[in-house]
Amino acid sequence: MKRLLVTGGAGFIGANFCHYWSAAHADDRIVVLDALTYAGNVTSIAQLIESGRVRFVRGDIGERDRVAALLREEHIDTIVNFAAESHVDRSIEDPQCFLRTNVMGTHALLEAARTTWTQPVAASSRFHHVSTDEVYGSLLPTDPAFTENTPYSPNSPYAASKAAADHIVRAYVHTYGLPCTISNCSNNYGPYQFPEKLLPLCIVNILEGRPLPIYGDGLQVRDWLHVSDHCRAIDRILSASPVGETWNIGGGSSEPNLMVVESVCRLVDEAFAGRRELAARFPRSAPALGKPSRSLICHVRDRPGHDRRYAINDGKIARLGFVTQTTLDAGLAATVRWYLDNEAWWRAVSSGEYQAWYARQYAQ
Ligand code: NAD
Ligand code: TYD
Repeated sequence: MKRLLVTGGAGFIGANFCHYWSAAHADDRIVVLDALTYAGNVTSIAQLIESGRVRFVRGDIGERDRVAALLREEHIDTIVNFAAESHVDRSIEDPQCFLRTNVMGTHALLEAARTTWTQPVAASSRFHHVSTDEVYGSLLPTDPAFTENTPYSPNSPYAASKAAADHIVRAYVHTYGLPCTISNCSNNYGPYQFPEKLLPLCIVNILEGRPLPIYGDGLQVRDWLHVSDHCRAIDRILSASPVGETWNIGGGSSEPNLMVVESVCRLVDEAFAGRRELAARFPRSAPALGKPSRSLICHVRDRPGHDRRYAINDGKIARLGFVTQTTLDAGLAATVRWYLDNEAWWRAVSSGEYQAWYARQYAQ
């Protein structure tokens, strides 16, 4: 039986991970530590908290002594660190909080573990740090996909902060023998994703009849990973990876943004054609007004320093026995369905601060 601390467990991937882990490992103890920034939504794991499967603690990973006390009190043997500022566009507007949480916060969490898990650290203890493929920078069209040996070359303040954190985690393995692993994954999508990221933004905007803002020509390529595959990959790493290893996780679905958004448009139109009640529920949406959703697509000013292409070589994690199960078509269809069926969730999280951000970000 493991005793997990899931930091950032009220965010998109962390919440999905709690749902996944609670179903896959019914006997394990799960404690979530989350500061509940604008991107953290305790409602995403409310059922798990109410049923007693998850203990929720509101707190900052940067509070080293408080985190260390929590590790001791709960006898935590496994830390999975999802807590981060995660949105590239926000890192361009205000890099400082990215350095505070992603770099200093990760360091404080490592220190809490190092001072709590005294030497010799039990073989069952593990600190898994969740990072991104963006640390590797941008690929040219003919470049080979990122491997775990690709040199770091981050281009945004977000990617630079994640790269710095990865280096600190690595240093704690080599210097202090802290039992850490790292994963660098591609763009996740699925349920509970905050609507500032491309796919939920487009789904919600179609339903609200708002433009679908495509940065530049929209031909930037991302490798789309369904969040459920990501959760399974982390499980595999926790159970089978030697200490000190890093793992790339991809979805095996490299597509330009524009094509992915067009697929979302088609899926929403098909859903409206098959479910009559949707037009009444979303009267401002393009399909309710008799227009194809793709008519909302508009090209807007490009993101400064926008990385052109990411691609993941997932050969190493495949050799660990992990394969993705969700194709992009199936994953997008399920995601569109989830947003259609969970209107209360996205309405609640996209009020207030989100509207102010949206107005700043998309004012031309
Ligand atoms: P998210 O923004 O949805 O969630 C982040 C969570 O961390 C939120 O619940 C937030 O409240 C919490 N948090 C922020 N600062 C904190 C702090 N100082 N202390 C404690 N909690 C804090 O992000 P996500 O998409 O779920 O990403 C999770 C992790 O995965 C991040 O480390 C991110 O860099 C990484 N990642 C994400 C993607 C993706 O496509 N979403 C891709 C690659 C890597
Ligand atoms: P995003 O979801 O912000 O993830 P990341 O920047 O971590 O890859 O963006 C995914 C891609 O979509 C990225 O190439 C930027 C692009 N994008 C748009 O074209 N328009 C938008 O409004 C947003 C938020 C992103």
